[in-house]
Amino acid sequence: MLYKKEITATNFKGKVNLGGKDFCQHKYAYYKYLRENDPVHQGKIMVMKSYFLANYEDCHAVTTDKRFIRERERITGGNRLPIPMTKTLKLMMSNMISVDDPEHRRLKVLVHKAFSPRRIQALADRVESLAHELIDKAEAKGEIHLKSEYSRPIPTTVIGEMMGVEGSDMDDIDNMIKAMTDMGNSGMGMLSGIIFRLPKAVKFMRQLVNRKRNAPGDDILTGLIQAEEDGDKLTENELVSMAFLLIVAGFETTYNLITNAVYTLLRHPDQLEKLRQNPDLMNNAIEELLRYNPPIHTTKPIFPIEDITIKGVTIPKGAMVMPLLASGNHDPDMFDQPEVFDIERTPNKHLSFSMGTHYCLGASLARLETATALKVLIERCPNMRLGIEGDIPLVVRPGWHEYVQMPIKL
Ligand code: HEM
Repeated sequence: MLYKKEITATNFKGKVNLGGKDFCQHKYAYYKYLRENDPVHQGKIMVMKSYFLANYEDCHAVTTDKRFIRERERITGGNRLPIPMTKTLKLMMSNMISVDDPEHRRLKVLVHKAFSPRRIQALADRVESLAHELIDKAEAKGEIHLKSEYSRPIPTTVIGEMMGVEGSDMDDIDNMIKAMTDMGNSGMGMLSGIIFRLPKAVKFMRQLVNRKRNAPGDDILTGLIQAEEDGDKLTENELVSMAFLLIVAGFETTYNLITNAVYTLLRHPDQLEKLRQNPDLMNNAIEELLRYNPPIHTTKPIFPIEDITIKGVTIPKGAMVMPLLASGNHDPDMFDQPEVFDIERTPNKHLSFSMGTHYCLGASLARLETATALKVLIERCPNMRLGIEGDIPLVVRPGWHEYVQMPIKL
C-alpha cells in the first residue's frame, strides 16, 4: 500500500524535491532508494536546497545532537531561510519549535504541564463522547467523509477547548489553516501564503489574545497571558506565536494520523480484525500506526554549527538539513521487515514524534485522541469499508502524508 512503485537508478531523477508530485505519491519507494543508495542526499524542498537524511541512525543522531540548531542566522548571519522573511514570518518563528535552548526551554516549560500524560488522561471521557456524537450524525447517512466529519473535528474541538478558543473563532482558524495549506503546495503558493494569508491569520490571533485578556478563563491561553503579565515571561509576539503553534500543531497533525490510521487498518483487514478481537492491543497498534504511516515526515529545518561529515558526505556549516523521520521508521537496520504492518510489533522505537529537545509536546494528546477515535469507530462500525476502489492519491504537501479524501461506508 505504501510501496506502489520501485525507484531504481534508471527512473531516479537525480535529485529529490520534497514538494515534487511523483515524490509525494511514492515517498516510501524514494526513501528505500535513498537508504540503499544515497542516505545523505542533497535535494530540494520547493525552491530551497537541503540535505535529506534517510537512515534511522542518522535521523536519530541529528535530532539529539546539539551541533544541529534551528536559528541559522546565529551561524551564518543573514536570513533563516532563502525566502522573503517578512515581519509575520519572523513572528511565526519565535515559538519553541523554531528556536534553540535556552529560549526553547523557557517557552516549553510554560506549557509543559498542560500536556502531561496525567492532565491528558483527564480528557478521555470528553474525547470519547465527541467521537460518539460524530458517529451518531454519520450513522443515518450510512457513510462518513472521515477527514472532514471525524478525523478533523475531534482534535480541532479538543485543542480549541484546551486553549479556550471555541465556536466560530476555531472555525475561522480552521478555515485559515486550510487555505494556507492548500496554497502551500507550490513555490508561488507558499510565497503568496506568506505575503497575503499569514498576516491576516496573525492579526486574527492578536485580536483573539486581546479578547481573552479581557475575558480570562480556565484555559491554556489565559495561563500564558497571566504568565506574561506576572513575570513578563512572554512578549506579545511570543504569545501570539505560541498560541498559533499549539492550535495548529494540536489539530493538523492528529487529524492526519487518525485518517492514515483508519486507511492503514482497512487496507490490512487481518490486523483490523485482530485489534477488534483484542482491544488491549490498542496502545501497541497506535505505536505501529505511528511508525508505519505517520502524518509528518520530517522535522523543521536544522543547521549544523560546523562542517559535519555523515556517511562520507560533508555537510557544510549552516547548510539546511532535514531528517526524513518516516524513512528512518522503515529502515531494515532498525526494524525487522519494516514494510510489514504488525500491530504486535515490539520493540518499536519509531521517530514519528522526533527525538531530543524538540520531542513532540503533544504526543500523549495525539495518542489518546487517536486511540479513542479508533476504538469508537471499530466498536460502532463493524462493517466499515473504504468508499473508493483502489489507491487514494496523496496531497502534494512537502513533509506531510495526507490523503486527498477518505470516504468510508458504515
Ligand atoms: C499525530 C500527531 C503528532 C505528530 C506525528 C507530531 C509530530 C511532531 C514532531 C515530529 C515534532 C518535532 C518537530 C521538529 O523537531 O521540528 C513535534 C513537535 C511538536 N509538537 Fe507534535 N505531533 C503530533 C501532535 C501534536 C499535538 C496534538 C500537539 C499539541 C499541541 C503537538 C505539539 C507540538 C509542539 C508544540 C512541538 C514543538 C516541541 C518543541 O519544539 O520542543 N503535536 N511534533
